[in-house]
Amino acid sequence: MTLTVAVDGPAASGKGTISKAVAAHFGFAHLDTGLLYRAVGAQMLLGKDPLIVAQTLQAEDIDPGALRNSEVAQAASKVAAIPEVRAALLDFQRAFARRAGGAVLDGRDIGTVICPEADVKLYVTASDEVRAERRFLELANKGQDVTRDGVLDDLRARDKRDSERASAPLKPAEDATIIDTSDLSIDDAVARVVSQIEMAQSD
Ligand code: CDP
Repeated sequence: MTLTVAVDGPAASGKGTISKAVAAHFGFAHLDTGLLYRAVGAQMLLGKDPLIVAQTLQAEDIDPGALRNSEVAQAASKVAAIPEVRAALLDFQRAFARRAGGAVLDGRDIGTVICPEADVKLYVTASDEVRAERRFLELANKGQDVTRDGVLDDLRARDKRDSERASAPLKPAEDATIIDTSDLSIDDAVARVVSQIEMAQSD
């Protein structure tokens, strides 16, 4: 059985949390594709050529704990605008999507470019303020030195760059279900997605 769930959306929209919970519910594999771009961005900050890093990326380069900060997020969004970097990461993502047992991938271009044939496509969003508050709490709880305004500026800058780039811009697929989590709890959002996947499984 292969079943692919594509989850896209802007920064800190809740897509990662929802994807992880939905994957756990069904026993599907989960790939946070943002980590691939973050890993490349982090190496660029160390002076490496992003294209070579993307072409030779190994699982051990991906240390989520070291990659979840604003500096790496901005670097990720810069390398993500380079078409050759995106091309270098494409095959890995497509192979992951097709793995037996079901897969959930979250990112910016999963429903539009990586898996246009996905069985279920979601676009998770929320207001700028709600997203910034979530990300602020997440980073502050990890002890990072962040301010609400700084986090809001970071999200807006990335969303702008991600939406305006020529290569695989952030946008909902035409057939994606939009889930606005501004006033929706994560549990309610997950329940909604679970029932949508159950419907796709019974098709
Ligand atoms: O967690 P958050 O939503 O803040 O970001 P992320 O998903 O880790 O992605 C970091 C950056 O990687 C984004 O701002 C995008 O520029 C880029 N990205 C992308 O271009 N395509 C993807 N499929 C995933 C991430």
